[in-house]
Amino acid sequence: MRPTQASYPATRLRRVRQSPAVRGMVRQNTLTVDDFIWPVFVRSGEGIEEPIPSMPGVLRRSVDKVVEAAREAADLGIPAICIFPYTGLEERTEDCAGAWDPDNHANRAIRAIKAAVPEIAIMTDVALDTYNINGHDGFVEDGEIVNDRTVEALVKMALAQAEAGADIIGPSDMMDGRIGAIRTALEAAGHQNVMILSYAAKYASAFYGPFRDAVGASGALTGDKKTYQMDPANSDEALRLIERDLSDGADMVMVKPGMPYLDICRRVKDSFGAPTFAYQVSGEYAMIMAAAQNGWIDHDRVMLESLMAFKRAGCDGILTYFAPAAARLLAKR
Ligand code: PBG
Repeated sequence: MRPTQASYPATRLRRVRQSPAVRGMVRQNTLTVDDFIWPVFVRSGEGIEEPIPSMPGVLRRSVDKVVEAAREAADLGIPAICIFPYTGLEERTEDCAGAWDPDNHANRAIRAIKAAVPEIAIMTDVALDTYNINGHDGFVEDGEIVNDRTVEALVKMALAQAEAGADIIGPSDMMDGRIGAIRTALEAAGHQNVMILSYAAKYASAFYGPFRDAVGASGALTGDKKTYQMDPANSDEALRLIERDLSDGADMVMVKPGMPYLDICRRVKDSFGAPTFAYQVSGEYAMIMAAAQNGWIDHDRVMLESLMAFKRAGCDGILTYFAPAAARLLAKR
């Protein structure tokens, strides 16, 4: 029960806001560098750092440059990096075989980072969209995104990542049954310590637009992802998905996108108490950057406020393109 509160003037709620010292004393949530997972884009070639127009400040890097970026991230105290491959149309096929190639850019980046920056945790992306000729997260047969055949491919993809040295497998595909299948395969292959952070409640969102430019999927995607990603109108379904993935062997769960879905973050944390992450996605990043570049909002303050919102909503951490910038800013305070 909430204790009754004296009325004004015995209670003046402004008393505890009067100075930085007192505000610090009563502050409920904190944002630290420990909260960040930094998504990075890796491409072919060497010595390449290529800007992504719809994500100002974000680069596609060749493997050597991703290793340098991982070094900088670790030096800033960022605990984890998440690798996304950029693939041109010429690297995409209908059978998506690149996805489980031990030598694809993502797996080469994992090996190179493990060797050079062993202290940073490496997360991956498990979904076929970055290798699929049609940009979908699963195989397409007669216009349908087929589930079970896709799960078999996702298992091969996850195993190749674990073999390369990934610490955290990140299935972002939204097929049914993939968490259990990946967990069983990891156990059988002796990867008991490899974690799964499931994109469990992932919505069919228009906020992913700039990411699809970043990974080369924008031109490729035919149709939409509504038969596998969630309807933005739903909330209870998110809880069913999270519960299912936790009982299938996920160690951590994710809500995605982030800021428009803070109510889901709160429900998930309150319902399950599991390690809960939000993905502040490319469109959220792009909106903040565009407004900041126009001088319409204060970049640093909006960045930190947007990240703090996730902590207040119950998240344990955030996947964010702001990770290095926010880490630098927090280190100065
Ligand atoms: C696809 C995937 C997407 C993102 C992460 N993994 C896009 C999609 O589902 O189309 C989006 C990330 C972002 O927008 O920042 N497997």
